[in-house]
This record gives sequence, C-alpha cells and structure tokens, in this order.
Amino acid sequence: MKDSPKLKSLLEKRRQTDALRTLKITSPDLIDFSSNDYLGLARNSSLKSEILKVSQSRSLTTGSTGSRLITGNNSLIEETENYLAQFFSQEASTVLSSGYMANLAFFSSVPQKGDTIIYDELSHACIKDGCRLSLANRYSFKHNDLQDLELKLQKGDGNIFIAVESIYSMDGDMAPLASICDLADKYQAFVIVDEAHSTGVWGSNGQGLVHTLNLQNRVSAVIYTFGKALGIHGACITGSKDLKSFLINFARPFIYTTAPSDHEIISIQKAFELRAQNQTLADSLFEIINYWNKKLPKFSTPSAIKAITIGGNTETKTIADNLQNQGLDIRPILSPTVKAGTERLRICLHSFNTKKEIDFICDTLKTDYPVLFN
Ligand SMILES: Cc1ncc(COP(=O)(O)O)c(C=O)c1O
Repeated sequence: MKDSPKLKSLLEKRRQTDALRTLKITSPDLIDFSSNDYLGLARNSSLKSEILKVSQSRSLTTGSTGSRLITGNNSLIEETENYLAQFFSQEASTVLSSGYMANLAFFSSVPQKGDTIIYDELSHACIKDGCRLSLANRYSFKHNDLQDLELKLQKGDGNIFIAVESIYSMDGDMAPLASICDLADKYQAFVIVDEAHSTGVWGSNGQGLVHTLNLQNRVSAVIYTFGKALGIHGACITGSKDLKSFLINFARPFIYTTAPSDHEIISIQKAFELRAQNQTLADSLFEIINYWNKKLPKFSTPSAIKAITIGGNTETKTIADNLQNQGLDIRPILSPTVKAGTERLRICLHSFNTKKEIDFICDTLKTDYPVLFN
C-alpha cells in the first residue's frame, strides 16, 4: 500500500495535539448522554416493526437503481415529499440522503456569483462546506449577534442569504429567528434555517421551530434532518415549488447521486407518523431538559444539548474518560471540531433519561470537578 508522506505527517500532527480522531463502538451498558436520538425513536420497537411490516407487505426493491432524474424516482418518494411539504406548511420539499448533503445541495447551488452568504460563525461544517462550493461571497457574523449581522448585511452585494441553525449543534442555544427575519426584511435578504436539532422536538407534531414560531412565510428554505430526533436517516429541504425545481436542475448533490431506497423512504413516513402520534415523547424530553436547567443553571440551554466547556483536548478527553468509567456515555468534543480553547463535553438529553440519571451526572461532576461550578 502506498500513501503520500503528507498523510503520515498530518496524522502525526493530530496525534501531537491529542486531536487524533478514532472510531469508538458505543457500549450499550453506559447511560446515553451523547446520541442525537433525543426521543428514543432509533430504539423504538414499534417504529422498527412498522417499518419492517410495510417493507415486507409491499414488493419493494432493495435499491433505488439510479439517480432521481433517471430511474430512482417513484411514487413513494413523491408521495413522501408531498407529505413533508404539507407537514412543514411549505409549498414543496426535496428529500436528500442526509443533512450534510442537503446543506451542500442548497448552498452550493442557490447563491450565485455576485451574491453574498452571511452565516453564523458557529454554523455546522456542512453549511460552511456548502458555502465554500458556492461562487458567492461569504462572510461569517458573530454568533447570534444581530448587530454584527446587520453590519455584514450593510456590506452584502447581490442577493443576500443569511444561514443560521435553529438550535446550535455544539452549544444547544437558539437563534433569535424572528429578529433575524426582521433584519432580513429590512435588507431584502433570504433566511435559510437548518433545523437539524429541532426537527421532531419542537411543535405539536415535531414540525420544528420555524413552524412553531409561525415563520414559514418569512424564510426561504428550511433544512430538516431525520437522523436525530426522528431516529432514522435522511433530510429534506423545504421551500417554494420553484426552489424545488431549481434544486432538481442545479444542485449537484441531488442530481449526481443514487436516490434513497424504498426502505429509507418508508422509514421517513413511519418515523413522522409515529412522532405525530406520540407528543408525550417530546413532553418527557422537555421535562428532563427543565429538570437539568434547574439543577445545573450554569449549563442551562433551551434545548437537549448542554455544553460544558473544559478547554484543552487532553483535559477534555480525560474528564470524558473518567465519566465513561463511571457509567456515563459522555463524549469529548475536541478542536478542530470546535475552536481551540472551547473543547467541551457535549451532553445530550433524551426523553428516556431519568431524573435519577441527571442527579447522578450532576453529583458526579460536582464531586469530581467542583471547579466547573465556580
Ligand atoms: C446543524 C447540523 N446540520 C446538519 C447536520 C448534518 O446532518 P446529517 O447528520 O443528517 O448529515 C448536522 C449533524 O450533526 C448538524 O448538527
């Protein structure tokens, strides 16, 4: 096997800064405080049996056999896209194989040369990667800082796109979506919201924050992902019928890839159906979130994501290892995934976590790391 020498030296550099990423197998014995399975749907036996039942009762193919524009399109996908558009109160929706691909598809194709993308500095890597693939100018604005956003809007050329997340993936805080829409109106900009961490969680049926705040007609596109609270895989972009037609014509991550399989599409249908029938799952999650916020006010956020900043890759890893040894599945988030100096424990709460488990985490942290609470 031949590798370029650079590969070795870059890996070595990672090793030296204790930043080398390795794959770990999740132990089922630990209490889950890490997965994005906020509502436990990935382990929900009714969802699993519903998906299997439908998959077996219809004569489905194992693979979609081609891209959406060739042989991969069918009535099942179209029916599901229509359902999702209605569910999120938008004109149209386009399904992609993941949230990463959805953001890549939107940002690489919609903003054109001469346009401007202004994105929150804490935006997910896939928003940034999509922007990099675009010929538009791009600037970041300070996290959730409306004044800085306005300064950047004043400098924007062409069509201006504002990219934000409803809930930030590493901090768990919420974007001021209504105020961002107000600013967008003032500067005739277009707001794009990534709802990865609010899909399925907010709203009476899990329609997310844009819908809950009644902002559907004030944003241009929303990216919903299915791999987190919905417990499956995939994503969709919602917006106008013209946006959908544009994506079909110009979004390379949509055009040049094999379409999702029937099994994936059935899973989307069933996951949304089950979520809509089980508001109690979201209620339980919010009960746990509120319990945490009262117990650990220093690390309070409106969402299921809690960040405990430690600083330093080695230090953060050591604490996470210690917590894992005590039965808690808590993972370290290291630089370069987050900015150096902000390395953290990212704790995710779930509908299935108990108050006793929160007490345990809280007591363990307070006993072992009292300095965190100063
Ligand atoms: C904010 C945000 N957007 C998009 C994604 C990517 O979604 P997916 O995992 O479906 O590719 C993630 C994944 O962690 C995310 O946190």
